[in-house]
Amino acid sequence: MISVNEPRLDGRELEYVTECLQTGWISSAGRFIGEFEESWAAYCGRRYGVAVCNGTVALQLAVAALNLGPGDEVIMPSFTIISCAMAIVYQGAVPVLVDGDPATWCMDVSQVEAQITPRTRAIMPVHIYGHPVEMDPLLELAEKHGLAIIEDAAEAHGAEYLSRRGPQPEWRRCGSFGDLSCFSFYANKLVTSGEGGMVVTNDEALVKRLRLLRNLAFIPSQRFLHEELGFNFRLTNVQAAIGLAQVERIGETVERKRRIGARYLEALASVPGIRMQAERPWARSVWWMNGLVLESESGHTAVSLAQRLAALGVETRPFFLGMDRQPALRARGLFDGEAYPVTEELADMGLYLPSGVGLTEEQQETVIAAVKQVLV
Ligand SMILES: Cc1ncc(COP(=O)(O)O)c(C=O)c1O
Repeated sequence: MISVNEPRLDGRELEYVTECLQTGWISSAGRFIGEFEESWAAYCGRRYGVAVCNGTVALQLAVAALNLGPGDEVIMPSFTIISCAMAIVYQGAVPVLVDGDPATWCMDVSQVEAQITPRTRAIMPVHIYGHPVEMDPLLELAEKHGLAIIEDAAEAHGAEYLSRRGPQPEWRRCGSFGDLSCFSFYANKLVTSGEGGMVVTNDEALVKRLRLLRNLAFIPSQRFLHEELGFNFRLTNVQAAIGLAQVERIGETVERKRRIGARYLEALASVPGIRMQAERPWARSVWWMNGLVLESESGHTAVSLAQRLAALGVETRPFFLGMDRQPALRARGLFDGEAYPVTEELADMGLYLPSGVGLTEEQQETVIAAVKQVLV
């Protein structure tokens, strides 16, 4: 079976992890944490990084550090992972949804302004499957209405967006936009630490709050006196060691992923009955996952295509299910009577193909041939 993703761990990962074991620095202190934070923040064009134990809590920590709570609304996409909604709900705030864009599958930024109310405090754009959200209109709205931007770049390490807000158009990396940006370093991401996450920011006051809340809100002046409730969201030095080795070859990883994405597009874009994620002229996607959306004339659903591909030795994964269709959120009285048709179509008709950085050219050709065998 050609798997959807396999990590590549053949850089300095073993050397760095061995150093942790030999020196005894296996917990949440040690040199790799700071080096991982600094190197990843610098790559994203940020001053500070705060490493945490996964991408889900990176989002929750970001929401908490901005002091969002009961009564506050955060605008987010309906087509994403539940981590985004959880981060908002856990802090007592309210997620407000906008549908996906049919071409990029990211949040439809033209729908955001209509969702702004006097209670809106933040927007949480999510770069879906490695393709950037159109950031300029969101940054303008945030400025106009005094909103924070919590960028979820968990799937978009190294992706770039052409911003036209400065004097010159400028390609900027995902992770550099807004007040804070969050990453996941789960094993299927472009940079992995096994489990892991990070919040990056330029804001000195925010970084202090992020660090405080990450570590049980211990205050420096008196150990074991807590003025507020924090979290234990710490990352270990062993995980940071793996993460640092991964950051060292991010350039090569991004190049490889862009080649895989370009090959899938070239080979499959003309296959009848499917639609692929469109790379906009203002975007350089990293094709975290290469997805297909089936049109009804294909004669397939995502489930039936996945079964046929599995029989040909190709593993796939279904797309996200919309937030409005999550019983855990509906049970809280959220999204009653709301409809998100683009998200619904993506969820029912979408799946993604093997996309890992370790995918060989031969494996990719096998996947392409299998898709064509079923659909053409
Ligand atoms: C867009 C997005 N945000 C957040 C997360 C959460 O990251 P983690 O799995 O590290 O908790 C993921 C996970 O894949 C994700 O895809």
